[in-house]
Amino acid sequence: MKKVIIIGATSGIGRELAKSYAAAGWLVGATGRRQDYLYTLLLEYPNHIITECFDVTANESLTHLQSLVKKMDGMDLLIYNSGFGDNSETLDWKLDKTTVDTNVNGFIEIINFSFNYFLEQGYGHLAATSSVASQRGSSLAPAYSASKAFQSVYFEGLHIKSKKMKSSIYVTDVQPGFVDTPLAKGSRRFWVSSPQKAAEQIVEAIEKKKWRVYITQRWWLVAKVIKWMPDFIYHRIA
Ligand SMILES: NC(=O)c1ccc[n+]([C@@H]2O[C@H](COP(=O)([O-])OP(=O)(O)OC[C@H]3O[C@@H](n4cnc5c(N)ncnc54)[C@H](OP(=O)(O)O)[C@@H]3O)[C@@H](O)[C@H]2O)c1
Repeated sequence: MKKVIIIGATSGIGRELAKSYAAAGWLVGATGRRQDYLYTLLLEYPNHIITECFDVTANESLTHLQSLVKKMDGMDLLIYNSGFGDNSETLDWKLDKTTVDTNVNGFIEIINFSFNYFLEQGYGHLAATSSVASQRGSSLAPAYSASKAFQSVYFEGLHIKSKKMKSSIYVTDVQPGFVDTPLAKGSRRFWVSSPQKAAEQIVEAIEKKKWRVYITQRWWLVAKVIKWMPDFIYHRIA
């Protein structure tokens, strides 16, 4: 049985990913802080879900991950999906700190461990739910867009590193546009995907070993327009 660990599988995109992999016969290690949500997931797929409840910003997060890997007797794929983001119009330090603790510090600790774990094992696949927001700075949520840029740039580095080492470790940087979850804020939302559709496309991209994917696929166009838009236009709208 193939084994995937999903960090942040209690709700939204992560929960749908957990359900997709469990339904496809994988053994799924599901994590998150909300024990009751993990429990209901376990009840849905009792033979395919193993849970570990922890906060990615806590000191013990790696100990929890290692314990989960042990309970599952290995891992083939790890998806870092935990994320936090909110509008920080007044540049609220608490919001900014939670964003960086979750999306940068929690992320790098788990991804660094997992890349080295896969190196030792000789194979493996890493994916992370970054965002199209990683493309440029945002005046509404500067810490969020910067934290997602960190994730995507780090993943590009790992992708190149793995290629240069001729290793069998694959990396997939997932950049969603809008997905219909409580995390998606703003009144100017468009091309909003359901979490189910997003999960379907993420699973397919991982299966195809794509190093970067936009969710849904047409968000590729938005990402490229944002990236190459001249500053004098972008700075008026962002
Ligand atoms: N929705 C969108 O439009 C959109 C667009 C682009 C990118 N994304 C990214 O997609 C990912 C999933 O978000 P979502 O939209 O599905 O929202 P969501 O339903 O709020 O899911 C967020 C997940 O992250 C987990 N999480 C948050 N803080 C955590 C912490 N400190 N420790 C452990 N787990 C934590 C949550 O679990 P617990 O609360 O149980 O801990 C939950 O499982 C995020 O990384 C987000 O940035 C979303």
